[in-house]
Amino acid sequence: MSKKKSLLTLVSALLSLSCLAQQQVCYVPTAENLKARQEFADSKLGVFIHWGIYSMFAQGEWYMTNANVDNKEYAKAASAFYPIGFNAKEWVSAIKAAGAKYICFTSRHHDGFSMWNTEQSDYNIVDATPFGRDVIKELSDECHRQGIKLHLYYSHIDWTRDDYPAGWTGRGTGKDPNNENWPSYYAFMNRQLTELLTRYGEIGAIWFDGWWDHGNDSVPFDWQLEEQYELIHHLQPACLVGNNHHQTPIEGEDIQIFERDLPGENKAGMSGQAVSRLPLETCQTMNGMWGYKIIDQNYKSTDTLIRYLVSASGKGANLLLNVGPQPNGKIPSAALDRLQAIGEWTSRYGETIYGTVAGDVPVQEWGGTTRKGNRLFVHIFDHKEKELHLPLQGKVKKAFVYDTKQMLKTKRTEEGVSIFFEEIPSGTDYVVELEMRD
Ligand code: GLC
Repeated sequence: MSKKKSLLTLVSALLSLSCLAQQQVCYVPTAENLKARQEFADSKLGVFIHWGIYSMFAQGEWYMTNANVDNKEYAKAASAFYPIGFNAKEWVSAIKAAGAKYICFTSRHHDGFSMWNTEQSDYNIVDATPFGRDVIKELSDECHRQGIKLHLYYSHIDWTRDDYPAGWTGRGTGKDPNNENWPSYYAFMNRQLTELLTRYGEIGAIWFDGWWDHGNDSVPFDWQLEEQYELIHHLQPACLVGNNHHQTPIEGEDIQIFERDLPGENKAGMSGQAVSRLPLETCQTMNGMWGYKIIDQNYKSTDTLIRYLVSASGKGANLLLNVGPQPNGKIPSAALDRLQAIGEWTSRYGETIYGTVAGDVPVQEWGGTTRKGNRLFVHIFDHKEKELHLPLQGKVKKAFVYDTKQMLKTKRTEEGVSIFFEEIPSGTDYVVELEMRD
């Protein structure tokens, strides 16, 4: 057993022990699940795709509740949904070329519209649109063909179905509060999840969202998550369960998700939770919104995105970077340009992030560090001096510029190690490799 594997086994055993102490039913991940967690942790970059009939309104995926649109009026958009430009091969190719190892696609967002041929409701892309194609089928086939993992986002919220007991969102969308029926809605979700996990081959993860809709309830809402997680693991033991609940992970989850923040930071206000020992992921938008929003052209620069990716790696986390395809099925060109630039970077510097763990020096103002065995990669984004001091305890055997292999002088100090450059580090990410003594 490799060191990494035995560490994971130990961590999962410890987690089960703490769960036993609380006298709960304990989740013990299978060997294939642990392997999938490790692959996930190594993969560092995924691309999130928010696409549904909300894209047609071009106001982001929250439009329905934000504008209090009646769900029956909203649903009429489906009858005109014909994304002529949708091409799974083009999406997957562009995303793979960016260096992403997985895609997370919104199978059903809060508006309640299903992007596959579900038998559980006619409000889906095959039965309710003239397009009539099962997008998840096309996407999953293409992902399997191109060897990239497919994760599925699944909303716990539904702003259309009466049986979903509304939380603080979706109060003005015309649902009948007299017809709320949690057991019916819960069974519906589980039947849908069963379809997703039995019809489309291997699914890398189910990514839940919406828990926070009942986050302010005076009586805690029982989402019956453990049973639902069990169902997923029963159907596909290697499928990772994650939940964007902004809480510390709950029993049965395999990864920890952060939204719009690096783990341990809370600039966007949704990530105050403690960082667990599960594999980590943070999701971030390329512009401001997840779903296509026509006036949102506030795209982050390529430099910012690459540095964010590297900083996530420096925290031992994956970046799940979002794109919001247009109503015609095309990924906006501003997003494609950025994916391409990220691909140029990952094809050159990929080994300094993929398969690494958080480096010995925590993320700093000037950049961050990642580590693979005895190789420590120092990623410098912004440092205006010829000397960089690292609060590093280990011994450095060799230091060199990653690009040119030019050797660099180092000096041991009381607090760590100083590296001396011939020139001031420049570029998106000036990478220095340190060979450490074991
Ligand atoms: C938030 C939003 C949701 C989006 C998700 C992505 O939970 O409610 O619309 O899909 O973030 O992280």
